Amino acid sequence: MNRQTRKTVIAGNWKMNKTPAEAKGLIDAIKAEISGKDTGLCEIIACVPFVDLQTAVEAAKGSAVKIGAQNVHWASSGAFTGEISAAMLKEIGVEYVIIGHSERRQYFGETDITVNSRVKAALESGLKVILCVGELLAEREQGVTAEVVSRQTKIDLLGITEAQMKDIIIAYEPVWAIGTGKTATSDQADEVCGFIRDVLVSLYGKNVAEATTIQYGGSMNAKNAAELLSKINVDGGLIGGASLKADDFAVIIEAALN
Ligand code: 13P
Repeated sequence: MNRQTRKTVIAGNWKMNKTPAEAKGLIDAIKAEISGKDTGLCEIIACVPFVDLQTAVEAAKGSAVKIGAQNVHWASSGAFTGEISAAMLKEIGVEYVIIGHSERRQYFGETDITVNSRVKAALESGLKVILCVGELLAEREQGVTAEVVSRQTKIDLLGITEAQMKDIIIAYEPVWAIGTGKTATSDQADEVCGFIRDVLVSLYGKNVAEATTIQYGGSMNAKNAAELLSKINVDGGLIGGASLKADDFAVIIEAALN
């Protein structure tokens, strides 16, 4: 982390977990865990399933917890059965949206081109974006991690202006570390987050690159968070499994505050 130039952000990605009633319970539990703590140094976000959003926004009101969605369509409206627009999210009080998560790339045909369209639509509607990039195990083993995250970062951000970058967080999530219990070492996380920052320097210059929050995601948990967050280029976490337990999530927030 480098709090001098950028904010620390801890975000939960609940994925396809929790009904609306369960979502209220979990947000209330997170609120109880962080109550009385000075969370000013760390932004806290919960990215919940679409049907939980309204309940989560209501439950989080007046607390430090901000609510995000896990995807958004690129069109503003129209014949896109089953999809959700940025304006719909914005109107119910959603502040963030995850775009380009590897599970969407793997299982739902997401490409860098569609990611880029979604990022533009989200920003134009006033949503903030958590943009996910990361390499597959085979890509790491072939030594092309830098090429892969470089291409993803460049195409996903095509046409995004320097001014818009203040509303973008990048999450580096090596696909081989997601849900596997196999965390990247803190040095591996720092190296790739630093490499992504170098890509941002080439696209937007040093000031924007230094001001952009770059999270690590992939089996981050209560035990390894402090070590990962001790690295200069790791500005927070995007947490799956461990964000579903309020006490574990609170330990990670605590690590980010220290
Ligand atoms: P896990 O923390 O469960 O590995 O998931 C990481 C992730 O995909 C967050 O977006």
